[in-house]
Amino acid sequence: MPQNKNILITGGAGFIGSHVVRLFIKKYPHYQVINLDSLTYAGNLENLRDVEKSSNYRFIKGSILDVELLKSIFSENEIQGVIHLAAESHVDRSIHNPDEFAMTNIIGTIRLLKAAQTEWHGSMEGKMFYHISTDEVYGSIADGYFTEQTSIDPRSPYSASKASSDHFVQSFYNSYGLASMISRCSNNYGPYQFPEKMIPLMINNMVTNKSLPVYGKGENIRDWLYVEDHAQAIDDIFHKGKSGEVYNIGGNNEWRNIDLIKMLCHIVDKKLGREEGTSVKLITYVTDRPGHDLRYAIDASKVISETGWRPQTDFSLGLEKTVDWYLNNQEWLTHVTSGEYLNYYTKMYDNR
Ligand code: NAD
Ligand code: TYD
Repeated sequence: MPQNKNILITGGAGFIGSHVVRLFIKKYPHYQVINLDSLTYAGNLENLRDVEKSSNYRFIKGSILDVELLKSIFSENEIQGVIHLAAESHVDRSIHNPDEFAMTNIIGTIRLLKAAQTEWHGSMEGKMFYHISTDEVYGSIADGYFTEQTSIDPRSPYSASKASSDHFVQSFYNSYGLASMISRCSNNYGPYQFPEKMIPLMINNMVTNKSLPVYGKGENIRDWLYVEDHAQAIDDIFHKGKSGEVYNIGGNNEWRNIDLIKMLCHIVDKKLGREEGTSVKLITYVTDRPGHDLRYAIDASKVISETGWRPQTDFSLGLEKTVDWYLNNQEWLTHVTSGEYLNYYTKMYDNR
């Protein structure tokens, strides 16, 4: 691979994307990083304030659905690598509005694939289209772990759209020889996560003394990974992974929702100097999410053996850091939860 690279990162103003953009800008000053993001409710340029003036960084506001824009970005910037994170990412929203998920996650990915293929078809030397996917494409697993050989069995509109985009990436590899890879990661947590996802939503509600809506009995299990560990895995796979391959990423860190929420309650009470047990009283069991997957669990041995990556962040320390970040960034929370998000959130919980 050449030393200098022009990289297009999509969805770089979102939660995971902003950590990937930050890591690449700082670690690879000789790369040019272009961040293409349409700034939906989930995208926020405040997530990148600390690095936005870097000379090796450029932001383009636009959509992966815009064919002409994609064409010009590829032809004018000699893009050699794509790290594709742009997506609609919240399961609950996908249940209310599947069309938008099909449009962004499936059609958007196809348009991006076509733009890369058109520009690169002369030579794939030094090129890579890297698609960021999710363990949710495997469905729910009672025992054992998802490996890269586990059958795809998506169950929510979100995971169906991601599974479809994964298949399109593989079809471009098989049909046109597009240099491409996919990684499928478990649930991420950490700073800059939009507060509709479980961990930041619970922290925010504890701070503001609102009820903590636990879906069903709170027995669903997720495998949690600190977002910077995911960003590092993306770096390792981008540089050491093989074209045509799929890599699972996970923290080997399974928690039942209710146990995790109680742990968060304990941390928040301690940090706010409140009496132990104050936040737990806010727990409210609400109607379960339709089709709620019971358990996700990842076998990450392939990425570990092939790239040397390992999760670095101890879970209790990662949660403490995350709580600290949300407590210290109330202004960010106010900004991102104004407007469109509030309308949606209020409507959704009125229906429960
Ligand atoms: P996010 O919702 O925080 O960010 C998505 C970003 O994509 C936003 O900045 C948004 O503005 C942008 N975007 C949406 N539609 C776009 C369009 N048409 N054109 C350009 N930009 C657009 O999501 P996230 O949690 O950071 O997830 C990023 C990626 O990682 C997604 O592909 C998701 O499926 C995948 N993933 C997420 C997790 C997780 O736990 N959050 C786990 C595994 C995989
Ligand atoms: P979420 O953060 O939406 O991620 P995903 O659905 O992609 O795993 O949810 C994580 C878990 O928390 C999931 O089992 C659903 C549950 N959950 C609640 O119990 N209450 C909530 O308010 C939210 C948002 C999620």
